[in-house]
Amino acid sequence: MRTPKTTLAFDVYGTLIDTAGVVAALQKLLGARAAAVAFSDQWRAKQLEYTFRYAAMGRYRDFRVCTRQALDYCCAAPPADFDAATRDRLMAQYLHLPAFDDVLAGLNRVAESGMKMYAFSNGRADDLQLLLTHAGLRAYFAAVVSVDEVSSFKPDPAVYRRFLKRAHATAEQSWLISSNPFDICGARAIGMRAVWLRCNPAVAFDPWEFAATHEVNNFTAMADIFTA
Ligand code: LAC
Repeated sequence: MRTPKTTLAFDVYGTLIDTAGVVAALQKLLGARAAAVAFSDQWRAKQLEYTFRYAAMGRYRDFRVCTRQALDYCCAAPPADFDAATRDRLMAQYLHLPAFDDVLAGLNRVAESGMKMYAFSNGRADDLQLLLTHAGLRAYFAAVVSVDEVSSFKPDPAVYRRFLKRAHATAEQSWLISSNPFDICGARAIGMRAVWLRCNPAVAFDPWEFAATHEVNNFTAMADIFTA
């Protein structure tokens, strides 16, 4: 596996970057932590739902639009009926989300193995550059590949093929590392290999025909696969 040709595509939101990084700000607005966590979970779920729906309808709107519309959806009723300025602040925070704790050390180890690493995400390229730079991760990646280049979203096969084209790599030599089962299925469906980061043991994998090549519980165990 340690051939120089191995190419790694790291998913960003939910894999490198913690989308629950908005919980502290939401708790200040909503009072209770449980309410903040529930809001954050619904925001993330709705954001992804909108990407799936826009892609299925062939009416692409970029990830920032999906994120904002999902936020507006979550703000429909009190006590979460935040005003526009508050929603703008939450959106700004979405560009400064933190990396998960074990990500930096794991990326460091994989980088030493000499494999080519990319960030590959539903996010807009400009947002991803900001986000990864702020989290101190940008320098690990040869390039940031955004689905925005093909105006569609994961798991549309077109976006994985775009990644391969940008990385000058074949599907067989490329791995996706993602916590999102729908992303793993998308990569496996076009012949890439994939590591499913099962951060939350309560989350099950979809009972589809596209199993992950490896399943791990944390970023450190992911690094073990590529540095063994
Ligand atoms: C991404 C989504 C899956 O970063 O969160 O592509």
